[in-house]
Amino acid sequence: MNMDTLVSLCKRRGFVFQSSEIYGGTGSCWDYGPLGVELKNNIKRLWWRDHVQLRADMVGLDASILMHSAVWKASGHVDHFTDPMVDCRACQRRFRADKLDEAPWIHSCPAKKDTKFEVPGGEPCVHCGNRRTLCPECGKGQLTEPRQFNLMFRTFMGPVEEDAAVTYLRPETAQGIFVNFENVLQSMRLKLPFGIAQIGKAFRNEITPGNFIFRVRELEQMEIEYFVNPLDTVAGRPADEYWHEQWIEERRAWYRRYGIAAGNLRLREHGKDELSHYSKRTVDIEYRFPMGWSELEGIANRTDFDLKQHAKFSGKSLTYFDEERRTHVVPYVIEPSAGVDRSFLAFLADAYREEEVRGEKRVLLGLHPELAPVKIAVLPLLKKRDEIVARAKEIRTELARRWVTVYDDTAAIGRLYRRQDEVGTPFCVTVDVQTVGDPEKGEPGDDRVTIRERDSMEQIRVPVAELVRIFQELLGGQPWSSVVQRYPAQDRA
Ligand code: GAP
Repeated sequence: MNMDTLVSLCKRRGFVFQSSEIYGGTGSCWDYGPLGVELKNNIKRLWWRDHVQLRADMVGLDASILMHSAVWKASGHVDHFTDPMVDCRACQRRFRADKLDEAPWIHSCPAKKDTKFEVPGGEPCVHCGNRRTLCPECGKGQLTEPRQFNLMFRTFMGPVEEDAAVTYLRPETAQGIFVNFENVLQSMRLKLPFGIAQIGKAFRNEITPGNFIFRVRELEQMEIEYFVNPLDTVAGRPADEYWHEQWIEERRAWYRRYGIAAGNLRLREHGKDELSHYSKRTVDIEYRFPMGWSELEGIANRTDFDLKQHAKFSGKSLTYFDEERRTHVVPYVIEPSAGVDRSFLAFLADAYREEEVRGEKRVLLGLHPELAPVKIAVLPLLKKRDEIVARAKEIRTELARRWVTVYDDTAAIGRLYRRQDEVGTPFCVTVDVQTVGDPEKGEPGDDRVTIRERDSMEQIRVPVAELVRIFQELLGGQPWSSVVQRYPAQDRA
């Protein structure tokens, strides 16, 4: 499966649209449609539930996007949050100098009478053996020397556009946590180790955004700053190093729990030369995206860098009183930092399947039920029969109190099932003639409906009165196989 297949599915089925599309679109911003916003909210909800609500050592925060400009001086972002950039002297396009060799390039080959063609990134031309030296996009222009380009979006706070009013849209949510360290510590009476979690938007003026929602200029992050006592040891290791390992495993297990195949995840240790200015050690969780292995999440040991910097710039003491040792310490910080948009892309790519069923192609999103945008679709077998439609709508209303449930009668049943498969709906409920009976023939209905399971396409017939209990089991984590054996099977569809 390639990226174009996913982009097309996302647009066709209301997951993701290009921002401002009617004006020609922007290459770097995307809008989440009706199903996309459900999937995105589910990702955030599960992350929050698993890492904040279920843990005794975590609390949450929602800090503002605009902060005092001194925050970004103290954090090092004004001086260090830069990428090397080069410009093409002919076509004026701009590139990240450190990514140039990865991109495919346009080549006028002397060995092929100067015909132009594309050569894969990082490779020499197979005809003349030359490597890229010119602009990869137009193939003609010389590139300028690399210059450092700050990725933060500058803006002005207040009505006057003057230097004193300059601030930035936050490029990471983390700093909102560091500057609130003392507030959270005191108000919640926390003891080390503890973590503060936050989900929110961040903005980066990326030089080369791309690969759909993988690299965007307006992104959403799910970040944890986990504070540990640098004087502690755990299992014979310094506490920061122990907790770093714990969080790497915890976060990898989280992606696995919600369905990502083990073979599509791997860890990558940052080399000393690529560590951020604040990091002692960083490990990326990489995912095998359609364009290749790339960073899904970074887990850094930020040491005491940020708290010390903010203490220095603000003049406030940002320490923790270690009662046992009767001394103040500056905690070390472990930071699992995940992107919502990249998680969305990874869950979607991993769930995408194409199968052949009775000679026809079936496209399926095998999303974990907790992630699926729609949990249940209620479908009438015949939309011309008013009693069937009315009963199906009643059932939808009842189920929608608890789960995202839709009603659809815009096609024949086979087509309706395929549509729900394509957006990952785990269960369909079908109302038919037997459910409501046939008054003209004097046949009473049995008030039973068919439940169809997405992955196996198996069907069972169950009383309407038991639907809520059955879905409590199925959507509460019970396997289909444990429920199916209690009810008569129907043919697969
Ligand atoms: N606070 C640490 C931090 O921000 P990062 O590695 O720059 O670290 C963390 O970003 C995560 O945020 C990345 O692993 C990725 O999932 C996401 N992310 C970063 N830049 C992004 C972009 N331009 N578009 C989409 N997601 C991005």
